[in-house]
Amino acid sequence: MAPRLNDQVDEAIVRRTPLFSGLDEAAAASLRASMNLVKLRKGQVLFREGDDGDHLYIVASGKVKLGTKASDGRENLLMILGPGDMFGELSLFDSGPRTASAIAVTDSKVLALGQERVFPWVREHPEVSLQLLARLASRLRRTNEVVGDLVFSDVPGRVAKALIDLSVKFGAKREEGLFVNHDLTQEELAQLVGASRETVNKALADFAQRGWIRLEGRSVMILDYVRLLKRGR
Ligand code: CMP
Repeated sequence: MAPRLNDQVDEAIVRRTPLFSGLDEAAAASLRASMNLVKLRKGQVLFREGDDGDHLYIVASGKVKLGTKASDGRENLLMILGPGDMFGELSLFDSGPRTASAIAVTDSKVLALGQERVFPWVREHPEVSLQLLARLASRLRRTNEVVGDLVFSDVPGRVAKALIDLSVKFGAKREEGLFVNHDLTQEELAQLVGASRETVNKALADFAQRGWIRLEGRSVMILDYVRLLKRGR
């Protein structure tokens, strides 16, 4: 069944992405005009790890997960992307295969920009390359942190950190606390944390029992942000 998503895109979100930063209106409009809208149904694969890559993408709406698979079939989630996030640029810049798979967590819209447009664009607009470098640098920083956490942090610490990360992206303030509609299954949360479903569930249940969070299906209400933040450090 075709996704019942309309073609509308929140342009303000698109303009805040690194590709557009520092551009005047005419340049931004020209870049935007060369992007194609791709609609994804929940669970639809945009590309797979190992594929050739010739487009980069910006999430316009919805959520997209980036994940890798080990040879024994175990899956690891690198990141959950939301509106305004860019991805798929690595294989364009180093001409290697896709380093991860991109799969829609919810019905989503992404904007695609072809390689043939990206390279001349970056040459013509050096300020864009600086923004892209800044994005790559912060991603490497975050990856180093994740690797450090896998070695030095326990599972509850990593769960707390994952919830805080998700709240930064998807949190909405409510009277009671911060409501985070992450849309992830327990299995996906475990893949994001890099631990078994059982240990992740145990950590979540413990946080809930302490009154730090309340679990609500594929969402979580963070009731004590400070304690959760401390646990994730
Ligand atoms: P590419 O390799 O073309 O396709 C998969 C994309 O996932 C990749 O480009 C990056 O945009 C993104 N990606 C890969 N590794 C990470 C990571 N560790 N953290 C966040 N995003 C990543």
